[in-house]
Amino acid sequence: MVKSIAGYSDRISVQPGETIRFMVSCSEPTTYRARLVRVVSGDLNPRGPGVKLPAVASAIDGTYRGRPQAINAGSYVLVPAAPPLAALAGFTVQAMIWPTTPDRGEQVLLSCWSAARQAGFELLIDEGGAAALRLGDGAGRVELVSTGERLLERAWCFVHASFDPATGRATVHQRRQVAYSGLATEATVERRAGFAPAGADAPLLMAARLAEGDGPGRRTAAHYNGRIDSPRLSRRALPIDEALSLHLRPVPQPVSADLVAAWDFSLEIPTEQVIDLSSNRLHGTAVNLPTRAVTGYNWSGAEMSWRAAPHEYGAIHFHDDDLYDAGWESDFSLAVPEGLPSGCYAAHVASDTDEDFITFFVRRPTGRPASRILYLAETATYLAYANHAFNFAAHASEMLGNHLVILDRWEQHLNLHPELGNSLYDLHSDGSGICYSSRLRPVLNMRPKAMSSTAGLGSMLWGYNADTHITDWLEAKGFAFDVATDEDLHAEGARLLDAYKVVLTGTHPEYYTAAMRQALADHTARGGRLMYMGGNGFYWRIAYHPTLPGVIEVRRAEDGTRAWIARPGEYYHSFTGEYGGLWLRQNRPPQQLVGTGFIAQGFDHSSGYRRTPESADPRVAFAFEGIGMDETIGGFGLIGNGAAGLEIDIADPALGTPPHALVVARSETLTDTYLLVNEELPLNTPDLMGTMNPRIRSDLVFFETGNGGAVFAFSSMAWSGSLSHNRYDNNASRLTENVLRRFADERPL
Ligand SMILES: [Fe+2]
Repeated sequence: MVKSIAGYSDRISVQPGETIRFMVSCSEPTTYRARLVRVVSGDLNPRGPGVKLPAVASAIDGTYRGRPQAINAGSYVLVPAAPPLAALAGFTVQAMIWPTTPDRGEQVLLSCWSAARQAGFELLIDEGGAAALRLGDGAGRVELVSTGERLLERAWCFVHASFDPATGRATVHQRRQVAYSGLATEATVERRAGFAPAGADAPLLMAARLAEGDGPGRRTAAHYNGRIDSPRLSRRALPIDEALSLHLRPVPQPVSADLVAAWDFSLEIPTEQVIDLSSNRLHGTAVNLPTRAVTGYNWSGAEMSWRAAPHEYGAIHFHDDDLYDAGWESDFSLAVPEGLPSGCYAAHVASDTDEDFITFFVRRPTGRPASRILYLAETATYLAYANHAFNFAAHASEMLGNHLVILDRWEQHLNLHPELGNSLYDLHSDGSGICYSSRLRPVLNMRPKAMSSTAGLGSMLWGYNADTHITDWLEAKGFAFDVATDEDLHAEGARLLDAYKVVLTGTHPEYYTAAMRQALADHTARGGRLMYMGGNGFYWRIAYHPTLPGVIEVRRAEDGTRAWIARPGEYYHSFTGEYGGLWLRQNRPPQQLVGTGFIAQGFDHSSGYRRTPESADPRVAFAFEGIGMDETIGGFGLIGNGAAGLEIDIADPALGTPPHALVVARSETLTDTYLLVNEELPLNTPDLMGTMNPRIRSDLVFFETGNGGAVFAFSSMAWSGSLSHNRYDNNASRLTENVLRRFADERPL
């Protein structure tokens, strides 16, 4: 336990009149104080602007009683207890499975089991990695029948177990789909059990069992890692061939007369629903968002989208570390008062030993702005990076950063608490990529004061906390601004932006849904202005869940700078059916929207910019007032000591930079930790490093859009780290201020 207090909220964006609830857990029963703070700057660097978290008096001020609240991570399917399940004397349980960690101890595939009474049955992978059946009579007798043959990792296998009450025979069978010479393809064990299993009178679970225990919330154990396809349950012991025929569609007669349930995971893929095709309608719920829209045992490769061949996507991939909603009890809530200005806020909770900040944003009602300036908090990107385990879990973090990794406190805590769940950059415990990320759990790096060692030498800020360099600068310069989030943008589109003359992004607006991207395009086409304050923006296509709040999906498809690579046939979002991956690969490169797009990344030193002759164009004279032609712009800063750094973008007419766009400055040479991104490479050549490749640079780009609108792209994640240099009196700050003042001006550009 590194941190002893942590929390989250039910919403991330609220407006006056709405209520936000806060969930807090303390490692020990204790009291803690809560208060509301405005988040202006969260940078701990003594060379930076300082931490600025002014308190705001509110109804949450007070002392609260804290206690531990657990997280029950791991996904499963829950089917409520029902008479057809309780009445089973004989049975057959079967499924196609694709186990990913068969050697990791007992993992339940399907459980009709009462842990308290030790009654019922469950199909499982046993300690030896073999298919097995557990029977319990509820009177102290428990028996495990195992094939004793270890299942292969990531190989489809038919597993089948039955019990015949007439003979007392229990049978377990496993048969791998692909045969390999010298390896057993199948194994069967048959044994007379000394007793008949009792009815469990409990819910049926897939991929876990219900655990004993009291306290709030359902607790589960023996989670399974891997895929399950076409699980079936029958009310008598079926011979193997009959059981195999149950995988046919439609299910053949007369076997179907004994069918208790036949779950088809290819139905209702975008939802949590699990559909039973049998007349019993034993429908279930998928809990903690196991991965859907994954290829099943019968995927032929003929179709790449689950919508084109749903019957080949009848699998769900379960993970023992999936988590959607931590489900904690709420400690306190805030009814947002009418007079609370739009802005970045946090509930600051502090015990005698630790503190946490539960961050959220207060927006204005649609169409009722308090400023011409909107700061768009990149909450989708915060979710993508939520609880990023890279610095301690990935193999390349020191190499990429070109310096030793220093783990911040939040990272040390996360390392000890995998139940908090990781980010879209990380892997599940079975090595598969994480494609869903939710905010209904403590997100330890969506906090002021959080640092990340692979975020450039200096302040080492990334994401949420790096973005406080922007809010700090806006306040220091006296700009009044409203705030809205990616969730608001996704829900309302350009309607949200119409009330504003200028929209500023954060330092890394990387994750965009189709609706979000279209909203920005519409805004600039209608005369709005956009200041792209970051790098590697508008890069991944994502999806929000159609009904579940606060969760996004990414499919790391065929190309791009990827932390993991999606499996073939799994490039389409399960939430929406949309093709995932890079916007670049969907005829919507970021250059079309903001003039520049991702070209390179490096994580040590940043550089400054030199003006181009194009910067003397009268069209952009407003931006360079007070800045000499020969000045190095932003040759200083808190992120790698320069304004051009971390992830950087260039103009590229071939990818859609408008022909009238002006490239007004280019960054100076970057270090050899900066490498050309792979999506730019038809093949590898020995000139991919910063000092060798002229394309490895950041371009500042300006262009006008329809109806007097305009875009200015700063094209670097490090840019905002330069703004506070010399008490905000420097040429990067001046350039940003010149652009913002002109962009906030109604006169057409
Ligand atoms: Fe990123």
